[in-house]
Amino acid sequence: KRPVGAPDRKLARPVSKVGVIGAGLMASQFALLFLRRLQVPVVLTDVDQARVDKGLAYIRDEIAALEQKARIDADEANRLRALVRGTVDKTEFADCDFVIEAVFEETAVKQQVFAEIEGIVSPEAILATNTSSLSVEEIGSVLAHPERLVGFHFFNPVAVMPLVEIVRTPQASEEAVATAYVVAKNLRKNAIGSADAPGFIVNRLLAKVMGEAARALDAGTPLATVERAFGPLGLPMTPFQLIDLVGWKVAAHVQDTMVSHFPERFHASANLHALADVPQAVEKDKGGRVTGWTKEAQRVLSVGSSP
Ligand code: 3HC
Repeated sequence: KRPVGAPDRKLARPVSKVGVIGAGLMASQFALLFLRRLQVPVVLTDVDQARVDKGLAYIRDEIAALEQKARIDADEANRLRALVRGTVDKTEFADCDFVIEAVFEETAVKQQVFAEIEGIVSPEAILATNTSSLSVEEIGSVLAHPERLVGFHFFNPVAVMPLVEIVRTPQASEEAVATAYVVAKNLRKNAIGSADAPGFIVNRLLAKVMGEAARALDAGTPLATVERAFGPLGLPMTPFQLIDLVGWKVAAHVQDTMVSHFPERFHASANLHALADVPQAVEKDKGGRVTGWTKEAQRVLSVGSSP
C-alpha cells in the first residue's frame, strides 16, 4: 500500500483562484474560509440562482458578523465581499486552480459535476471533493486526468473544527496531494492523510456512534436517555447534537456507505433513514442541548413520541 502521508510540499501548485461547487451550508462555510485565509477570488456555483444567492447571503452575513466582533476590520470585510462571486455559469471556473465540491452525496452526481468542470478548467487545475464517505477513486474514474483529484474533507462547523482529512487515491499525483496539504496549512487546518477507504478515518468512527445511537432509538430507548447516557463522557456533543449538526441526511448517507462496505460491522437504523427528510428533527434549548423531537419528527418515527 502507498503511504498516505504528506508529500514534498515544494511540489504544490500555487492557488490564486478557488472554485466552490455547491452553495449549501457546508460549501458556503468553506468558501468563506478560503476567502478569509487565502485572500484570493472565490467563485461559488450551484444548480440554480436561488441556491447561489442563499450561499452568498450566508457568506455576507458571516463577514458582517466577523466585522461586528472586530475579528476583521471594515477594509478587510470590503475586500472579502469583493473577492467572492456567485454564479450559475460554470465557465467562470475556467481560471480556477483549485476547485472543490460539496454537492449531493451521491457518486453519480459528483462524477457528473467533475466531468463537466474538467472540460472547463485548465489541465493543471487541482480538483477536490469534500465527500464524507464515498470512494474518491470512484468519483474520479470519469475524469480524463484522475491524478488531479484528491479528497479534502472538512468538519462541521468548518470555521471552528481544526481538522481536514486529505484523501489520496492510488492515482493521485504528488502535485495534487502536495497542493491539498499546502492549502490546508494556509487555511490553518491540521491535515491528516487518509487512504481512500469508506468513511475515511473520522466518519468511520463517528458512524458507529451516530448509528448505534439511532439504533438505540429503534430499540425503543427514548431520545433523552441516549443523550443523558453520553453526557458524562465529556465529549463536546452528544450523539443527536452531532447528527443535528451534520444533518440527518448526511448521517444517513454515511451510514449507508458503511453498511454497504462492512455489513458485518455496521447496521442500518430505520429511524435514521426515516428522519433524513425531516427539515428539523429535534428541539434544542438555548445551550444547544437536545430537548425532544419536533412534531414533524414524531410523525415519522417508528418509536413512540416520548422525549
Ligand atoms: N459556525 C461558525 N462558528 C461557530 C459555530 C458554527 N456553527 N458554532 C460555534 N461556532 C464558533 C462560535 O461563534 C465561537 O466563536 P468565537 O469564539 O469566535 O465567538 C466558537 O465557535 C465557540 O463557540 P461556543 O462557545 O458556542 O462553543 P462550544 O464550546 O459550545 O463549542 C463546538 C462548539 C466547537 C461546535 C463544539 O460543540 C464541538 O466541538 N462539537 C463537536 C463538533 C464535531 O464533532 N464536528 C464534527 C462533525 S462530523 C462532520 O462534520 C463530518 C461530516 O462528513 C459528517
